[in-house]
Amino acid sequence: MGKFTSYFLLFALFFSNFIASSLGKKQSEVLGKFYKAKQDSAFGKNYYKAAAVENVELDKVIHPQEGLKEKDWINKLPGQPPVKFQQYGGYVTVNQSAGRALYYYFTEAENSNALPLLLWLNGGPGCSSIAYGAMEEVGPFRANSDGQTLHRNHYAWNLVANVLFLECPAGVGFSYTNTSSDLNKTGDSRTVSDNVVFLLNWLERFPEYKNRDFYISGESYAGHYVPQLAHTILQHNKLSNKTLINLKGIIIGNAVINDDTDIIGMYEYYASHALISDETFLDIKKYCFDNHYNKSNCNEAVAVSNNNLNHISIYNIYSPLCKDGNLTKYPKVPSPLVFEACSDQYVHAYLNRRDVQDALHANVTNIKYDWESCSDPLFYNWKDSPATIIPLLTESLENGVQVWIFSGDIDGAVPVTSTKKSIKAMNLIVDQPWRSWLSGGEIGGYVETYKGGLTFATVRGAGHEVPSYQPARALSLISHFLSGTLLPGNH
Ligand SMILES: *[C@@H]1O[C@H](CO)[C@@H](O)[C@H](O)[C@H]1NC(C)=O
Ligand SMILES: *[C@@H]1O[C@H](CO)[C@@H](O)[C@H](O)[C@H]1NC(C)=O
Ligand SMILES: *[C@@H]1O[C@H](CO)[C@@H](O)[C@H](O)[C@H]1NC(C)=O
Ligand SMILES: *[C@@H]1O[C@H](CO)[C@@H](O)[C@H](O)[C@H]1NC(C)=O
Ligand SMILES: *[C@@H]1O[C@H](CO)[C@@H](O)[C@H](O)[C@H]1NC(C)=O
Ligand SMILES: *[C@@H]1O[C@H](CO)[C@@H](O)[C@H](O)[C@H]1NC(C)=O
Ligand SMILES: *[C@@H]1O[C@H](CO)[C@@H](O)[C@H](O)[C@H]1NC(C)=O
Repeated sequence: MGKFTSYFLLFALFFSNFIASSLGKKQSEVLGKFYKAKQDSAFGKNYYKAAAVENVELDKVIHPQEGLKEKDWINKLPGQPPVKFQQYGGYVTVNQSAGRALYYYFTEAENSNALPLLLWLNGGPGCSSIAYGAMEEVGPFRANSDGQTLHRNHYAWNLVANVLFLECPAGVGFSYTNTSSDLNKTGDSRTVSDNVVFLLNWLERFPEYKNRDFYISGESYAGHYVPQLAHTILQHNKLSNKTLINLKGIIIGNAVINDDTDIIGMYEYYASHALISDETFLDIKKYCFDNHYNKSNCNEAVAVSNNNLNHISIYNIYSPLCKDGNLTKYPKVPSPLVFEACSDQYVHAYLNRRDVQDALHANVTNIKYDWESCSDPLFYNWKDSPATIIPLLTESLENGVQVWIFSGDIDGAVPVTSTKKSIKAMNLIVDQPWRSWLSGGEIGGYVETYKGGLTFATVRGAGHEVPSYQPARALSLISHFLSGTLLPGNH
């Protein structure tokens, strides 16, 4: 067994235990299960490259969208408090012959004309951007404990942008395919090529956004999708000799960037946060990563680590677990700043209601299975996932696309230690050195900028889903990213 493969074994061992013991959230479980699949030697790990010149035939993939925007307008979601902004939801066909259609949910800003367009993607692979992004992170509403009403998120990102949530790839959430074998043939490449077709058609449906400044955000495994989509957009713009999509910046949080550094950084985080002993960390480092690779010793050390991590929510090491996810007759009074640990259960109940799906214009074809926050068939059969996306981040920077990487500093799934190592692996020169940034008069996190246009910012006290745990800091972060201004602090 090569050293490379062993890295994935580590993940598999670690997460298989975690899954068995966790009451927690699926997005981080899925990431772990996924690394298990990545062990498979047949797995495509090459860099993602957009389709070659001759394959970009825009007239074949862009279809008329007249009248569809009006049809997609959402009057009101069941149990929704009154709001002044507009919402839309519906399907965009991305492959007619296979019958693949991606579901989107769009929350405009109140002053939509003055603000940019921001796409949000969740990871997995196979997890829903409605489940997490829209309903638990940056969307305008959160589900109540009765599973049928909503309350406002006062730190929603449509205060500073027009926010588009996309369930991708087909097979995730409400996005579907009529060719069931597609679910066994999806990977990074399919996801990204379908996403770009989605965007081109969506801009036909909402032509007022065609030349709007466009930004892409995402977390976790979307650390792959976001720079891959940027790469494909840059290529499409180049090949068509025009700005089809006015890409200005990308931002990824607690993101899978570079497998080698992501994995060792994870164990370093456990040791430095007193979750595993220094000895266990040194054993893992020695037997699993260095030249002393020894399978049995490595497995033994990882097993010790696993045993130390039972009954903790690894995506926020200080968060309570969901102990009772049962729905309640009346909604519990939500706390604006403390994230509800059982949100997944409430969102699942809400989005599986027929009246909710009708209001969202979702599931119009009576999909055979329930709405789930993450799709099992997709990630068990995932086809390609490069070991690093650093070359694509570099490409974005070289093309003048602003790149921000953020990290909630109490996440153990893709922790801040991993991200620091991944950025170090990019060999950039520091422009403005590490300093604190302020939010609401206290430290929101720390920030370092690099020559060439990269900004790295931590978010203090945030887990894997940063905006769930630190909504005010996350809103401050995204508004500075979008306006291209420095995070406030001493500089
Ligand atoms: C549509 O998807 C199928 C796979 O399901 C693929 O073979 C075909 O090339 C795709 N068509 C286009 C136009 O991308
Ligand atoms: C999928 O099949 C259903 C039922 O035949 C059809 O109504 C729908 O339009 C198809 N979807 C796409 C994207 O072609
Ligand atoms: C997809 O793969 C699963 C195994 O992971 C298999 O059971 C299933 O039959 C396959 N489905 C199709 C449509 O090929
Ligand atoms: C783009 O411009 C190049 C060079 O001017 C030209 O060769 C090419 O045909 C153009 N492509 C399109 C799609 O117009
Ligand atoms: C791995 O370590 C074990 C126990 O220390 C030892 O018996 C075995 O020979 C080692 N294997 C290799 C391949 O070095
Ligand atoms: C949740 O509901 C289940 C099934 O109705 C019940 O068995 C269980 O006791 C409930 N849990 C709590 C903590 O009330
Ligand atoms: C779609 O609707 C059908 C009922 O028509 C329901 O059984 C199924 O769970 C729904 N699926 C999704 C993904 O919403």
